[in-house]
Amino acid sequence: MKKYIVIGNPIEHSLSPKLHNYWFKILNINAVYEKRKIKLDEIGDLISDIKNRKISGINVTVPFKKDVISHLDNLSTEAKETESVNTIFLKDNMVIGHNTDIEGFELSIRYFNLDLKNKKVLILGAGGVVPSIIYALQKLKVSKIIISNRTKDKAENLKKKFKNLEVVDWGSNINFDIIINATSIGLNKNDEIGLDFSKITKKFFYDVIYNPAETNFLKSGKLFGNKIYNGKMMFIYQALSAFKIWHKVEPKIDSKVVKLLDT
Ligand code: ATR
Repeated sequence: MKKYIVIGNPIEHSLSPKLHNYWFKILNINAVYEKRKIKLDEIGDLISDIKNRKISGINVTVPFKKDVISHLDNLSTEAKETESVNTIFLKDNMVIGHNTDIEGFELSIRYFNLDLKNKKVLILGAGGVVPSIIYALQKLKVSKIIISNRTKDKAENLKKKFKNLEVVDWGSNINFDIIINATSIGLNKNDEIGLDFSKITKKFFYDVIYNPAETNFLKSGKLFGNKIYNGKMMFIYQALSAFKIWHKVEPKIDSKVVKLLDT
């Protein structure tokens, strides 16, 4: 039986096994998908397991998306440009790293029927997932990307990779069409982002977090008359994209799949 794993630390919260194993079942694929909490020094052995075909594919989550890169034979353009790998597979005896978070974000935007062309985007945060979001937003041809991060230097650093970014102080009052929370604020139900959205209305609020389904960031967006979206569809589509690479089939995204991840 083919084996797939998701590695990270912590990993308990990961819903990837639930989703992939569900797709195995409905598509009659003889495989199993497990989660594994690892330490940094275990990555090398796991990549060897890909090479000797003990493991057929690996998903990578926080905090190892960059750390795995040095162990791989080759990277996709997307992985290279974002320095972020969340999907690993063997091709022509080479271990390849790819980034499906980009497609995950892009397809979620399409799923929600949002047209971001020529729109002004404000991203809160400058952590691991942000390069993938910037890459996707550039593909979606937004007119402007503004980054606001508590630690401004980290946002400034992104400018080295992505030209035309604007960096503003945390808490700045900025005009935008869509605001994306890419910080970890909200993972705990009571987390407050501490920004005032009371004058913002009829815009889009997107949170990369999907558990809880409505962070306080989204709650306040909704309260003031904005449209809100959580990260669930991004999560589903990044998984779908990895699944397509590994199994060469595309599971359908229907209400059952979407419901499967309700926590
Ligand atoms: P990493 O920064 O290690 O990549 P991450 O989970 O990908 O980790 O990113 C966490 C993001 O949430 C960062 O942008 C972080 O801001 P800092 O760069 O200043 O650390 C942001 N974040 C976490 N807690 C925060 C808080 N209480 N207030 C503001 N931003 C916060």
